[in-house]
Amino acid sequence: MKKDELFLWGGSIAAHQCEGAWNQDGKGIAIMDLVTQGTYEIPREICQTVEKGKYYPSHDGIDFYHRYKEDIALFAEMGFKALRISIDWSRIYPKGDEETPNQLGVQFYQKVVDELLKNGIEPIVTLYHFEMPVHLVKSYGSWTNRKVIDFYLNYCQTMFEALKGKVRYWVTFNEMNHIDPQTEASDIFTYIIAGLKYTEMENQKQTLATISYNMTLASVKAVNLAHTVDSSNQVGCVFGLTPAYPLNCDPQNAMNSLKETDREFYQIDAMCMGKFPEYKLKEYHVNGIDLVVSDADKLAFQQGKLDFIGLNYYSSSVAHYEGDDDNEETLFGGIQNPYLKQSKWGWAIDPIGLRYLLNYVYRRYALPIIITENGLGAIDQIDENGEIQDDYRIEYLQQHIEQMEKAIVEDYVECFGYLMWGPIDLVSATTGEMKKRYGFIYVDKNDDQTGTLERRKKKSFNWFQEIIKEKTSFTNENV
Ligand code: BG6
Repeated sequence: MKKDELFLWGGSIAAHQCEGAWNQDGKGIAIMDLVTQGTYEIPREICQTVEKGKYYPSHDGIDFYHRYKEDIALFAEMGFKALRISIDWSRIYPKGDEETPNQLGVQFYQKVVDELLKNGIEPIVTLYHFEMPVHLVKSYGSWTNRKVIDFYLNYCQTMFEALKGKVRYWVTFNEMNHIDPQTEASDIFTYIIAGLKYTEMENQKQTLATISYNMTLASVKAVNLAHTVDSSNQVGCVFGLTPAYPLNCDPQNAMNSLKETDREFYQIDAMCMGKFPEYKLKEYHVNGIDLVVSDADKLAFQQGKLDFIGLNYYSSSVAHYEGDDDNEETLFGGIQNPYLKQSKWGWAIDPIGLRYLLNYVYRRYALPIIITENGLGAIDQIDENGEIQDDYRIEYLQQHIEQMEKAIVEDYVECFGYLMWGPIDLVSATTGEMKKRYGFIYVDKNDDQTGTLERRKKKSFNWFQEIIKEKTSFTNENV
């Protein structure tokens, strides 16, 4: 990242939440193709196979597969400098363990990337955003099996070569840190990350530790591979992080806050510091978890350090404390903060938390950061003039962008981009709902499967367009 480069304003989307075309052009079945719609109260149902009469939102998404040109044109009209997409592994290797890739799948992403470049938009490509071929789960046990690391690397190599010279920024994984369950909603988290239900796992602690270790190892190996294929590749990994504040200045609460905020950072440590952290291995050992770090693994950790960190930020929480039993638990662990308002889905709205996190992560790793997701899921209404006045979304984004700016300009955090989550309405990852909308662009699709899929600009569309025009870069005279 060069200092004089433009700030990467843009958005993030994921294949399974927008593409649809779930069984077209040779695509295999991926884990999210087996998940029905749910609600905030009723979790999504995870099926063994595609069952008749059930509704699987990923099957149609918002039809980005056929409408990507129209959608990219709208992003370009807003002035996007970057778009983060994900590649659905099951389009490239339908079962995951084949020797040769499905060319139609490869070609689809080549066309999308070409379209982005044609529109002056930098593609940022995530290789794994909850899109594992189901076959790898059923026949190999998912990431519990080290063979899956090789299949993943083979798939990565195919894409590094297919998009060589066109894609500069790669992301190895999206939010693998949620593998360690924190709440009773844990089935959906372990499923979206590894295709396995937490409640059905034998020896849960050992299984989760093995999955987490193997994915972390896969990430460092992919970083090294990307650099080998093209030394100008910049490779990051994306983490979904939630600061857990202390309830008050009781030292025990401060300690709880440190522990809970930090509990998932061991993966980032492993990816940035050149070795899997000793403190985590000791913790595993004490808990009877068996993990062997071979010499070859040690070398891989040394050789696969990240070039940048991707940060998904939505909300913060309060760390658990003595006597908190009656308090409401948040989806990502921790409890609700009485000082903060929440979205309709119970996600606490905390712009300062973004500045806090940017500082926390930057001071620990001194690596460039890109905000890879941030946004508000809300119910939008079309008014009598056919317009969507989403001032609540503008307010949310404005406040977060202000805090990001403070982190860059006042705290000297090296942050090179802001990618808003869901610049076009898409299927929610946790609930599968369409009514939980994030976009600057409205998509006419409803939870009862009605809708024309027509795209319509919301008020926030023009607002974001102005932001991008106004703030081309954040320069600080003193830096
Ligand atoms: C992030 C995921 O955790 O949160 C996205 O990377 C997801 O895939 C986003 O869509 C928002 O969550 P949800 O459940 O509101 O779609």
